[in-house]
Amino acid sequence: MTKQVTIPQLSARKGSGEKITMLTAYDATMARLLDRAGIDVLLVGDSLGTVILGCDTTLPVTLDAVVHHTRAVRNGAERALIVADMPFLTYHVSAAEALRNAGRLMQEGRASAVKVEGGVAIAGTVERLVAAGIPVMGHVGLTPQSVHQLGGFRSFGKLPGEAEKVAEDARSLERAGAFAVVLESIPSSLAAAITKELRIPTIGIGAGPHCDGQVLVSYDALGLFDTFVPRFVKQYAKLGDEVTKAAKDYIADVQGGRYPGPEHSIS
Ligand code: KIV
Repeated sequence: MTKQVTIPQLSARKGSGEKITMLTAYDATMARLLDRAGIDVLLVGDSLGTVILGCDTTLPVTLDAVVHHTRAVRNGAERALIVADMPFLTYHVSAAEALRNAGRLMQEGRASAVKVEGGVAIAGTVERLVAAGIPVMGHVGLTPQSVHQLGGFRSFGKLPGEAEKVAEDARSLERAGAFAVVLESIPSSLAAAITKELRIPTIGIGAGPHCDGQVLVSYDALGLFDTFVPRFVKQYAKLGDEVTKAAKDYIADVQGGRYPGPEHSIS
C-alpha cells in the first residue's frame, strides 16, 4: 500500500531544497491522475466555485460542497496529503463554529488538514483548531474570499503598509501553530523574505520562485479553465482544446454513422 505524505514530512522539507508540490483537485478521477504523477498535496480549494460551479468568485461555495468534493478527492488519492479549504464565513463567526466546520471536513470529507484565509484576525481561531488536533494551512496576500474588500483579484504587497501586513499575517499564523502558509500574488522579494523568516514552509502562487513549494489551480495548469489566465499561471497542457476537439470528433462520427462501429456493438 502506498504511504501517504505526512505533515511532518512536509515540515522537514523546509530548507532542504526539496520543494513541496500542490495542485487543486475536486473529483476522484483528477485526484487519481495527479496522485499518480506524484503530487505531494491535493487542495480541495474553494476555487471550485469558479472552475467547477462557474461562479465569478469563491464566495458562494458552501461547506457542504467542499465536504462533498473532499470525499471524492479522498476516494481518488492514495499518496497525496488532502487539504480542504474552509469556505467564506465558515470560520469567522466563532472559534466553536470553526471547530465544528473543520471537524466536518475531516470526519465526513476525510481531509487531513484545512486551509483558512487571513492572518492576525483569525490567529485565535487557528490556535483553537490546532489545539483540537486539526492541522491548519494558512493563506495570506491576495485572499480571494476578501475580493470585494480588496477591490478585485489583484496583487497584494505593493501599496504602502501592505508588505508589512502580509509579513505580520504570516508570522501570526506560524505563532498560532499553522503547519504551512500559502502566499498568493505578492512580490517575489516579499515572498523570499517571509520564506527566510518563517520556520514553517511557504507555498507560493504568483509569489515567485523562492517559496518552499508551489501551488496552482489544476484547471489553470492543465489549460481546462481558460476564461481568465493569470500571468503567473504556466499552462502545462491545453486540455480545454483537446476536450473540444474530441467532442467535435464524436459529434461528427455520430452524425456520419461512423460511431458506434461493429467493435463497439453487441453482436
Ligand atoms: O481555492 C484555491 O484553489 C486556493 C489556491 C489558489 C491556493 O486557495
